[in-house]
Amino acid sequence: MFPIELSGVAFRPQGRNVLDGLDLRLDGEGISIVLGPNGVGKTVLLRMIAGLLPVREGRLAWGEASRPDAAIAMVFQQPMILRSSVLDNAALGMKPLRLARGERLRRARDMLERVGLADRAADSARLLSGGERQRLALARAWAVRPRLLLLDEPTANLDPSAVDAVERIIRGIRTDGCKVLMTTHNLGQATRLADDIVFLADGRVQEHAPAQQFFARPRSAAARRFIQAELPWRIRFDE
Ligand SMILES: Nc1ncnc2c1ncn2[C@@H]1O[C@H](COP(=O)(O)OP(=O)(O)OP(=O)(O)O)[C@@H](O)[C@H]1O
Ligand SMILES: [Mg+2]
Repeated sequence: MFPIELSGVAFRPQGRNVLDGLDLRLDGEGISIVLGPNGVGKTVLLRMIAGLLPVREGRLAWGEASRPDAAIAMVFQQPMILRSSVLDNAALGMKPLRLARGERLRRARDMLERVGLADRAADSARLLSGGERQRLALARAWAVRPRLLLLDEPTANLDPSAVDAVERIIRGIRTDGCKVLMTTHNLGQATRLADDIVFLADGRVQEHAPAQQFFARPRSAAARRFIQAELPWRIRFDE
């Protein structure tokens, strides 16, 4: 499935240039974080890579394949929660894998353990808080044992301890050998988690660099402006 390669990808809803000739290459290791202002097309990019949004202009290839397979899982900002137990929700994503029911439930329990929700397995999932729902959604996606996990703002609206819990889970997923591609508006989180940063502006990838390098020496003026605007304090970059 790797490298995932996009070349000249465009997305022009109603003639508006959202993505405008985007090039990107993603290898199968580590955590890549997509940064960029609201509306720049981060979610669109993740949905395209998940195969949920067709690419009408340009090219997107998953290794040798021209379409994505079951080894991709995506977690949305507002995770879908079914009106059933936490355990059933955690097992939901494994349906297409055709595992025996016992094996599905065993894996689901194991994942709930890992995300710290084992004691809530029998509760109605609708009763979970926002942070607990995010952890449940991660357990559900992780249970599928994907090769690529796409996470769209997995910690938006969470308090600091919930953010910390979700970040631990994401690190665990990475340690399991799963490639993670995620978006966030939390630059602290990007510095804590990212191996590399994909910075989007004006419809394209302006920079794709190791995280340390991106934050210490952003190459483009757009990236410097973006970092300064997102931080609660001012920093100066040496030009
Ligand atoms: N299916 C669609 N049809 C038409 N326009 C769309 C569609 N999906 C997204 N857009 C538009 O594309 C633009 C980029 O949207 P996207 O959700 O990718 O932004 P984003 O970078 O994720 O922003 P945010 O940081 O606010 O989440 C927006 O202007 C949005 O209205
Ligand atoms: Mg978005």
